[in-house]
Amino acid sequence: MGKLRVGVIGAGMISDYHLQSYAANEETELHGIYDLSAERAREKAARYGVNKVYRSTAELLADPKIDAVSICTWNDTHAQLSVDAVSHGKHVLVEKPLAMTYPEALKIRDAAAGRSQVFQVGFVRRFAAGTRVLKKFIDDGLLGGIYYAKATHLRRIGNPGGWFADRSRSGGGPLIDLGVHLIDTVWYLMGKPKVARIKGVTHRELGNRANVGNLSFYKAADYSADKNDVEDLAAALIEFENGASLLLDVSFSLHAKETETKIQLFGKKGGAELEPELLLVTEQHDTILNVHPQIDHLTLDFDEAFGSEIDHFVACCLGGGGTHAPLEDGLEVMKMLDGIYESAKSGQEVVYGDG
Ligand SMILES: NC(=O)c1ccc[n+]([C@@H]2O[C@H](COP(=O)([O-])OP(=O)(O)OC[C@H]3O[C@@H](n4cnc5c(N)ncnc54)[C@H](O)[C@@H]3O)[C@@H](O)[C@H]2O)c1
Repeated sequence: MGKLRVGVIGAGMISDYHLQSYAANEETELHGIYDLSAERAREKAARYGVNKVYRSTAELLADPKIDAVSICTWNDTHAQLSVDAVSHGKHVLVEKPLAMTYPEALKIRDAAAGRSQVFQVGFVRRFAAGTRVLKKFIDDGLLGGIYYAKATHLRRIGNPGGWFADRSRSGGGPLIDLGVHLIDTVWYLMGKPKVARIKGVTHRELGNRANVGNLSFYKAADYSADKNDVEDLAAALIEFENGASLLLDVSFSLHAKETETKIQLFGKKGGAELEPELLLVTEQHDTILNVHPQIDHLTLDFDEAFGSEIDHFVACCLGGGGTHAPLEDGLEVMKMLDGIYESAKSGQEVVYGDG
């Protein structure tokens, strides 16, 4: 079988992780790239050995030489680009979030219905070594039934600016940008229970703290701190039909001592921490054991996680296997994100199904 010929749409910050991972994958040929900024696309093409720089998405998608695409653009373009790519028969790996809203995501579902191509959502943390290892222990029953989880990603200063801070292009702030990863990772590790109820709050109090100096943080390729109409903090309690719940908080700006990432899961037989470092908690012979797995990447490592995500995508495209981050999971996570924003706006709990 020939190599998978890939096109990358969007050549900003995160595209580097896609491009370097494809470049390192021997089953892949980096065939094309397109960005609104032709200069940026040309620079990335030269750096990663991409064959062709296209003049439009339409031109890239119309090229029969492209088998698969990575969509690495602003959030407001994910849904339409996904629909277009699927309609052109391409395999798709779309960055998170799947779309800006659940109704937008449903349009992708409709376009993909009945088609056999791979559609993978960029839930990169599912593919990180720590998550993969923990999932095995959970599936093997180490934690027993998981009934509670806590997930935190609090940045004291970390609004990436540019389009991230422009709701019309991002769909929101830290919830849709960081919360999407936390919700997905925990929900996946919990065994994807059905959502029952959501209560959420958001705050816009501090803005982007662009006055703060001497600290570096992730920035959009076209960074600017001029516009900011997204929340700077979001918190939520998500309850699932199986009785389990997830408590979540995320921020771009906060008067916190330091930036903090923590993911904890608590089950009837044991517990686990995925961040800041993989740790298993269990009990044997009336003694509590904190178990430290010995693996290379105890915390999220972008290079490792993206390499693993893209190797999996390529293998699915070439081998026809089902992806571990399918479209239907993207829809469920999108539903939870919408629920949190909706609850924050109305002040009411959002109730699903029969309640
Ligand atoms: N998986 C992760 O951990 C992770 C981390 C950061 C960003 N992301 C996601 O990756 C995506 C891109 O984020 P980024 O940090 O690279 O942003 P960025 O601003 O650095 O880059 C975005 C690029 O997309 C281009 N672009 C926008 N609309 C386009 C269109 N219609 N066609 C072609 N090019 C277009 C822009 O010109 C820019 O070069 C976002 O959806 C973001 O949520 C994921």
